Amino acid sequence: MSPSSSHSDITTASAAETEAFARGLAARLPDGCVVTLNGDLGAGKTVFARGLARGLGITEPVTSPTFTIVQEYPRPGGGWFYHLDLYRIRGADDALAFGLEEFLFQPHTLTVIEWPERLGDLLETELPAGARHVPVQITALDDTRRTIRLPADLAGM
Ligand SMILES: Nc1ncnc2c1ncn2[C@@H]1O[C@H](COP(=O)(O)OP(=O)(O)OP(=O)(O)O)[C@@H](O)[C@H]1O
Ligand SMILES: [Mg+2]
Repeated sequence: MSPSSSHSDITTASAAETEAFARGLAARLPDGCVVTLNGDLGAGKTVFARGLARGLGITEPVTSPTFTIVQEYPRPGGGWFYHLDLYRIRGADDALAFGLEEFLFQPHTLTVIEWPERLGDLLETELPAGARHVPVQITALDDTRRTIRLPADLAGM
């Protein structure tokens, strides 16, 4: 397997564990990166996004932004945490129409996107030199266990 395709799988046994894992991951993410969260309805994408926010020191409630598409949270030291939920958009054209690019790969910013499938390959084509897209896949094993797949260098093991 080539290094660029190597990934790690972590299994969590509760929502609290998923949130805690994401909280720890936040410190390992490069500045300006975009984290995409793939997974079915109820997989735990919003729980994971909340953990990332907590890891950045954000204490506000983090809930699904489904009806607003994007929620913006200021970070304690400056910069932003952007949480996008693209479930209700039809495709990349819709995303560009609402100004998606303003929320991607920005300095002092972490962006997390639920339902990135809606964008097709837009993220890869917009990726600036030196920027990073971090794909995360969450899969439900049963009511309480989830497998989280992410790039191996960020797994923290
Ligand atoms: N190990 C686990 N990790 C994350 N969530 C879990 C886990 N076990 C149970 N859950 C529950 O699964 C649900 C996940 O909900 P969440 O809103 O995060 O899903 P989602 O992937 O964002 O869904 P949607 O596509 O509707 O936005 C919560 O009710 C949470 O308590
Ligand atoms: Mg959600």
